[in-house]
Amino acid sequence: MNHDKIIVIDFGGQYNQLVARRVRECNVYCEIYSYRTPIDDIKAMNPKGIILTGGPSSCYEPGAASCSEELFELGVPILGLCYGAQLMTHILGGKVERASAREYGKTDVTVDNSSALFTDVTKETVCWMSHFDYISELAPGFKSVAVTASCPVAAMENTDKKLYGIQFHPEVLHTPEGSKMLFNFVRGICGCAGTWEMTSFVENQIKEIREKVGDGKVLCALSGGVDSSVAAVLLSKAIGNNLTCVFVDHGLLRKNEGDEVEAVFGPNGNYELNFIRVNAQQRFYEKLKGVTEPEKKRAIIGEEFIRVFEEESKKIGAVDFLVQGTIYPDVVESGLGGESAVIKSHHNVGGLPDTVDFKEIIEPLRLLFKDEVRKAGLELGIPDYLVFRQPFPGPGLGVRIIGEVTEEKVRIVQDADFIFRDEIAKAGLDRDINQYFAALSNMRSVGVMGDERTYDYAIVLRAVKTIDFMTAEAADIPFDVLKTVMTRITNEVRGVNRVMYDITSKPPGTIELE
Ligand code: XMP
Repeated sequence: MNHDKIIVIDFGGQYNQLVARRVRECNVYCEIYSYRTPIDDIKAMNPKGIILTGGPSSCYEPGAASCSEELFELGVPILGLCYGAQLMTHILGGKVERASAREYGKTDVTVDNSSALFTDVTKETVCWMSHFDYISELAPGFKSVAVTASCPVAAMENTDKKLYGIQFHPEVLHTPEGSKMLFNFVRGICGCAGTWEMTSFVENQIKEIREKVGDGKVLCALSGGVDSSVAAVLLSKAIGNNLTCVFVDHGLLRKNEGDEVEAVFGPNGNYELNFIRVNAQQRFYEKLKGVTEPEKKRAIIGEEFIRVFEEESKKIGAVDFLVQGTIYPDVVESGLGGESAVIKSHHNVGGLPDTVDFKEIIEPLRLLFKDEVRKAGLELGIPDYLVFRQPFPGPGLGVRIIGEVTEEKVRIVQDADFIFRDEIAKAGLDRDINQYFAALSNMRSVGVMGDERTYDYAIVLRAVKTIDFMTAEAADIPFDVLKTVMTRITNEVRGVNRVMYDITSKPPGTIELE
């Protein structure tokens, strides 16, 4: 497999995998490495281009993340983004200083269309800025090729050395023409052919899994969600009968979900898999008794999961590998994605117990975003209705119940969620909204029903529009639909007397409510 390769050097910014993903969207293969990677290793990879990412430090401070000056002498085109551009300037003899105010948010920018970075980009366009420091003096040989009202070097280039820098973030959607700029860099300036596709990813993974696993036995943690289903089908294509899928019903699934998963993957389902369903509901409720802290709940659910798998694998005997459907946003938010900060630990990643009875964990989707996982699913021939299923987190309703998780609260949130999903589908909104569900707040308040006073829970409805699940906006659900949902939930779900709609975007909120 001989695809051009772009290397992304990670300096710890939150958007770094987005950079990689935008490169993949240009049909170019891409890998991310820490800034600590030795220069000789980078040379040996023979990249067609290098992108230096953003990062939280100030490049002129002692101990700040840096790279070797030799990198800029390789003759390989390099694009620095935000911190990457500042670092390039700092190392090559220009000046980076602290600005009097942070430049943050959508900003008008004027680009110089004679720069190859800005081919076909509108001269007056919009970009997403997020920086304290700025380039006050260009390094020798560079010229500024974009400006904003407060930033004299919003982009720069030294065409002789094929070095480029952009102060803003072309990788985020808030820079509407950012993808074009990255395309101009990887396909234009670096000259990558654009031969990489999701088929290559699938083929490559199947090949790598076969090499890694050999005749070993593999256990797959199947939840029936998009990620683990794609991981399971990928593994079954690679190793067939050596795969056993274990589906744990932890009692935190959506209403009827256990039976639905069994119908698809079980003995009468669509695939030839070894399928085991473990009904472990009571075991999870027992462990979660009295626990209110969200991270602790995640850790308990994650650990109990692994324990159940260990027990199942012992029954099967000599299991070497465990497969998990971890995807990139899970990795980055758990703080394991290279250099960026921890937001919260996602189940199956940060929640792993210290002692795990498997030789190794395989996470074939670790570098993909949700929509890329769906593309891979379609490549694998998984039916549309499964591929486009909305995401459901590993810890399930455990992250949709504030406070202590009890069987009663699970029942309430399952019933409310069922009604909400039903009404969204009836209103024809299920295709437009990327994720929607009911969660249970821990709030109880006084209400009146008939002539009686009630003191019951408040259900919170959550519905978001998002592309990459890293940022999201609350969906604009018609008020009539919300009112119908409210009426049905308060009438049909025992224990609920209030329904609220959560309009928080991400950030500052998260998508789940925990
Ligand atoms: P948050 O709440 O972090 O959610 O904004 C982003 C996306 O990730 C899903 N999510 C999870 N998925 N294990 C998963 O497999 C988890 O622990 C987990 N927590 C959140 C969430 O449903 C949303 O789609």
